[in-house]
Order: sequence, then structure tokens, then C-alpha cells
Amino acid sequence: MKVLLGVTGGIAAYKSAEIIRLLTEAGHDVRVLPTENALRFIGSTTLEALSHNPIDPNLYTDVADVKHIEVAQWADVVLVAPATASFLARTAIGIADDLLGNIILATRARVFVAPAMHTEMWENPATLANIATLRERGLQIIEPGVGRLTGKDSGVGRLAEPAEIVAAISGNNQLSGKRVIVTAGGTREPIDAVRFLGNYSSGKQGLEIAKAATLAGAKVVLIAANIDVASGAAEVVHVRTASELDSAIKQHLDDADVLIMAAAVADFRVENPAQNKLKRSELGAQITLNLIANPDILASTNRDGLLKVGFAAETTTELASLAQAKLRAKNCDLIVANNVSSGAVFGADTNSVEIFDATGLVQSISGTKSDVAHALIAQISERLK
Ligand code: CTP
Repeated sequence: MKVLLGVTGGIAAYKSAEIIRLLTEAGHDVRVLPTENALRFIGSTTLEALSHNPIDPNLYTDVADVKHIEVAQWADVVLVAPATASFLARTAIGIADDLLGNIILATRARVFVAPAMHTEMWENPATLANIATLRERGLQIIEPGVGRLTGKDSGVGRLAEPAEIVAAISGNNQLSGKRVIVTAGGTREPIDAVRFLGNYSSGKQGLEIAKAATLAGAKVVLIAANIDVASGAAEVVHVRTASELDSAIKQHLDDADVLIMAAAVADFRVENPAQNKLKRSELGAQITLNLIANPDILASTNRDGLLKVGFAAETTTELASLAQAKLRAKNCDLIVANNVSSGAVFGADTNSVEIFDATGLVQSISGTKSDVAHALIAQISERLK
């Protein structure tokens, strides 16, 4: 594949060396285009040596060759890594005052962008809006990871790992053109104005699934129940209760090819939640909450051609039989079963699951929640073929 690697001016520019190495080792033909600011962070000698191609970031040299069009047409893929907040903003409004900006506007190739910046900048509404704009226009965002940043701090915003970036651009666009709804987090059912019945779900697994589906080329609607989504990834709908989650799914169902129900949904809600804060002094030593059943959203959401993926959280050793019973009862194509008896899975970065379909066990995976997400997306895309 012919890859144009755009490098913009952030500290993570030094990691572009590793990206070039991985790309060339994988047999890709790589041309590198650093911006002027990127060259403050990494030298063109390094970039030329590793890519085996000359570097010329100047828009006004070799003008007779109409360089920006030549490169834009040459590339099968344009990858910008790292992409700064400033690059995202400029691209979102189509500024073309350097060679990279011109090429991004001129190319018909697939464009991937791997942002890297401090958490505060990544979470800034301006950046999130720019990411959403770029995504809407079909650019693929390779989301930053969580980890050590430039200073002593850590958080989300760190450039995705070079291997992950290379995998993303070489990846078969398994879910290209598909619309996927992912629910994540845990619902909360109000007791009164300040209290709720909830659960321990952190939403991390669902977020990783939304990310993996996006990387696989899907258009994702993420329905987030009581979790922060620090990314401009998918279209995000925030909900609190099971009933809100149900309505959000119904609103997006007509277009959807896949529903992935990773959210932990409350099975019961308080019949008459109090509008105000209940006062202890007025309640006495014991109170009774009247609970009524919520609908089973997964079981009751059906449409021809919709591929349904459920989760089964179990605390017994009969994981397989319980999960398969849930798969049948809820009319799912796949069910992801995990044993949550130790509680260790909540909030953790790793997970250990078994995926079942109607015929039985199809895959056991232990690894990061990202590994689990990618495996699940591969299973889904197999079934959409
Ligand atoms: N689910 C749902 N609506 C509910 C409860 C659960 O859509 N009211 C979905 C979950 O999102 C999950 C799957 O159903 O994908 C299984 O959830 P789980 O909590 O494991 O099972 P329950 O259906 O609640 O059954 P049980 O309490 O018997 O384990």
C-alpha cells in the first residue's frame, strides 16, 4: 500500500519513527510529510532514512510538478500521526496553507488521523467538535490511548500505540458502511431527587467495543449510561435510566445493522420515585421501596436483519449453560459471557470472556478490554458477510 504519513508538531512526533519502521517492515511504500512544526520535534534525516524516500515539506518547491496533487493521487492511504489539536481544527475548516493541508483536501484516499495531546486539550469542546466534524466527513479517527503524557501526569490523549495505528490502517474495513449501536455503562433508577439504584459497571468494555467498531469502519451510535465519554468517537447519546436507554435505542434502530448491548441494565425500578429528597428524620428506622420490573430491552428489541449481541454477567460456574439460555431467551446472534463473581472485572482494564452463538462456544478470550472488543468485532463481521 502507498502510505503518506503526515507528521504534525507535537511531542509524540518522535513516535512517527517507529510508525515508519513498522509500515516499511510490513511492505508498505511510505512517504513522510512533516509540517514545519513537526521538524522542531524530529529531524528530517531520521524520517528520510527510515522511509527511504526524500522529504520535502515545502509547498513552493517543484511547483511545476503540482506536488500536492501528485502526492494526493499517489497515496492509497493518508495517515496523520500524531495529529495536533491545531491540525484537527485546521482540517475541520479546510485550511490549506501548507502542503499537508492541500493534500488532505485534494486526496481521494482514505484518511486516518491519530490525535495526540494533553487530556484537557483532547476533552476541550472545540477539539471534540472538530473530531466529530472530521468523522462525519469520513475521516477515520484512531483514538488516543490512556497513559503517561509529556509531563508527570497521565490520562487520555496519548498517541495510540504505533502497532495499533499500523493495524488500524492495514485493517480490512470489516464493518465499513455498517451502522452499529453500542450501549455501555450502567443504568440508574431514581429513588428520590438525589439517590438511585445502580450497579458497578464502569462502561470500559462497551467503550472499547465502540472504538473497535469505529476503527473497523462502522458508523457507531454509543448510548452511554452514566459514564463519561472523553472522545469525539461515535455519535454519543447520554442516558440515565433503563427507560431512557430503551428510547435511545428505538430512535436509532431503523438504520442499525448491529445492536451490541454491553450496558448493565437495571431489571427493576422504583415504582414512585420521590420528586424531592427523602428526609431521614421523616422516614424512621425502616423503609420499603416498591420495585417494578423494567422491560428486557434486549429481548424486546427486534427487527429483520438486525444482528443482536448480548452480554451475560454471571456469578456461578454454570457460565456456558446460563449464557446460552440467555442467547435463546433474548433472541441474540451472539452472547458474551463473563464471570463477575469476584467483582474484579468492574473498572478493570482486562477481561476474560467466552463468546457463544446458537451452536455453542465460538471463542474464549482473556486480555485487555480492547483485545476482547476487537475479537468481538471480528466475530460480528464474520456473521455480517
Ligand atoms: N438487558 C436488557 N434489559 C434488561 C436487563 C438486561 O436489555 N432489563 C441486557 C443486558 O444489556 C445484557 C443482557 O440483557 O446484554 C443480559 O443481562 P444480564 O444482567 O446478564 O441478565 P438479565 O437479563 O438481567 O438476567 P439475570 O438477572 O437472570 O441474570
